[in-house]
Amino acid sequence: MEIKEMLYEGKAKKVYRTDNPDFYWVQYKDDATAFNGLKKGTITGKGSLNNRISAYFFSLLAKHGIDSHFVEEKSDTEMVVKALQIILVEVVVRNIAAGSLAKRLGMEEGTPLPATVVEYYYKSDELGDPLINDDHIQVLKLATPEQMARIKTTALKVNDILRSHLAERDIELIDFKLEFGLHKGELLLGDEISPDTCRFWDKNTNEKLDKDRFRRDLGNVEEAYREVYRRLTQ
Ligand code: C5P
Repeated sequence: MEIKEMLYEGKAKKVYRTDNPDFYWVQYKDDATAFNGLKKGTITGKGSLNNRISAYFFSLLAKHGIDSHFVEEKSDTEMVVKALQIILVEVVVRNIAAGSLAKRLGMEEGTPLPATVVEYYYKSDELGDPLINDDHIQVLKLATPEQMARIKTTALKVNDILRSHLAERDIELIDFKLEFGLHKGELLLGDEISPDTCRFWDKNTNEKLDKDRFRRDLGNVEEAYREVYRRLTQ
């Protein structure tokens, strides 16, 4: 497969067309942004770690019957994926109160949630990714009710699989974000699953092993991402 022209450059990834219209070539970058692009930085080694961690999680999910766009790794920082028409809904799953939920509901970070919370955000940089519900999704025609039902079931399944897999490695899965898309009419998990898109806390010390280290200037960002990869693969 040959890499062709760049289709899109995001905050953390570049997506290229290939000589086969069914596949895209994704390059993970070391660039980091937070707060809708207001905070910018570079984390050496992040692109490579996120590529490898995402490949690891997509392969794990495939073993459990959850299909994603992931096809194969091409290098340390690159993967080939199935070409998706992205659904403009970011799906957040939460097990423990943190981040925007803790702030919005006035809960202390680290409070376990008695039930898993699934939230939807409208993927729009212009609007700052507002929180939306199923009715908003219908009004905006972002996905059909059938697609949303499948998306919610899949997101909860992903939560169960990742949560228990990570727990065995002394990592608590606090929350994470998923994206979905359509490939030849088939609904697939897309984007990435990495410390950029999940909150991971060390089970014993509650040390943050994710992008909050960058967002909150806690330092040792690369080391934290590397530690997640080490625990997954050791
Ligand atoms: O900021 P908030 O608490 O809503 O984030 C919830 C989860 O979704 C976190 O794991 C965060 O990393 C992820 N997220 C993301 N991309 C966004 C917003 C949130 O990956 N645009």
